[in-house]
Amino acid sequence: MDNYNELKKNYTIHGRAVSNRFFAQAMEINRAGDGGSVSDAIVERYRQLARGSWGIVSLEAVSVTPESLARPNGLMIDEKNLDGFKRLVDAFHKENESSLLIFQLTHSGRQSGSFSRRVKMYEDEDDSCQVLTTDELSRITDEFHHAVRLAAMAGADGVDIKACHGYLLGEMLRPANTREDGYGNDAMGRTRILREIFQKASRDFPQLILGSRISLYEGIRGGCGTDGVDELIENTDDIMDSIALCKEAGAHYINVSAGIPAVTPHVTRPVKSNSFFLNYHFRYQKLVKEQFPGLTVIGSAYSSAREEGPMLAGENLGKNYVDLVGFGRQNLADPLTPRKIMDGNADQVNYCTLCGGCSRLLKKHDPVHCIVYDNEDKK
Ligand SMILES: Cc1cc2nc3c(=O)[nH]c(=O)nc-3n(C[C@H](O)[C@H](O)[C@H](O)COP(=O)(O)O)c2cc1C
Repeated sequence: MDNYNELKKNYTIHGRAVSNRFFAQAMEINRAGDGGSVSDAIVERYRQLARGSWGIVSLEAVSVTPESLARPNGLMIDEKNLDGFKRLVDAFHKENESSLLIFQLTHSGRQSGSFSRRVKMYEDEDDSCQVLTTDELSRITDEFHHAVRLAAMAGADGVDIKACHGYLLGEMLRPANTREDGYGNDAMGRTRILREIFQKASRDFPQLILGSRISLYEGIRGGCGTDGVDELIENTDDIMDSIALCKEAGAHYINVSAGIPAVTPHVTRPVKSNSFFLNYHFRYQKLVKEQFPGLTVIGSAYSSAREEGPMLAGENLGKNYVDLVGFGRQNLADPLTPRKIMDGNADQVNYCTLCGGCSRLLKKHDPVHCIVYDNEDKK
């Protein structure tokens, strides 16, 4: 099928060869060991994804500090855990030399668990978290720089600076962030941490692929994808200004997402009853590609279309609306998806049923697995 052929085509990002267009989106499985360390279960999960021949795999969210864990068993990168991350990268590349592995680095901000430190960028009605001070934001920037260095030492092919889904750097991008201390107000202030990370990383680790996952529209008042503090309706002009600044600072790609899973989950991951929202994801990907032809655009939410996902992904690739196609829930349902499709065995793929089981496990802070297809040993 022609559309499947689009998925098989190779690609180049920042001089690195990507063997096909399948991108495994970050999926937290809440299975780290003590202190956010890499456990055997985590290594095994990424070994499976390597076996599945995804062009690029994004490691699930890795906190840059113990203060910002969103899940009790979330990953955290520091010197103590570095050997575990090296072991993970080695196991991944031993399984598949051509797949690339990027680390998603995050500060969870107000999405941090009650067992961590819940903080926010600006004053609002949520009094369960404190507004970060200017000094704290400067320290958080240093924590990101340090995490990038550790990721490079571990052998990551790139880093994704998470700025989506309501986590700290995503909150920072919002028009509602009117801080006047250089970390808010205009697009320069609201992208400051992202820009500083990209600038320093490009200089110190020129080999790394750099990018960010951004919610084009969050669906909340004053959120990303609106153009004012009190605006609710979508206008992507403002978020495009932020993307332009990230590109200028050294980002090679933008991973286009939408919504805030804790607030507007149906926007981030369309389910059966609102699968129409997938068309919005496609439109956001196309908008970014049109505006920034030189930037690699990774699309999200393709699992929502179930068995039609790969065909729609191929269509969007063929029309040059997107460069790499991201599957989240599908990579949990069947980590071997790309291998099966590229070998002509699309009928053998276990397609995500959109049952919401993985999201419910994550919400309850249980270890995450696919409740439909996983065997007993993964549970
Ligand atoms: C259990 C679970 C864990 C997730 N973990 C992450 C994560 O670590 N980082 C991230 O950016 N998105 C995360 N997401 C969002 C997915 O990457 C993806 O954006 C979403 O599922 C929609 O895409 P899909 O239709 O392909 O699943 C997670 C989603 C689920 C359901």
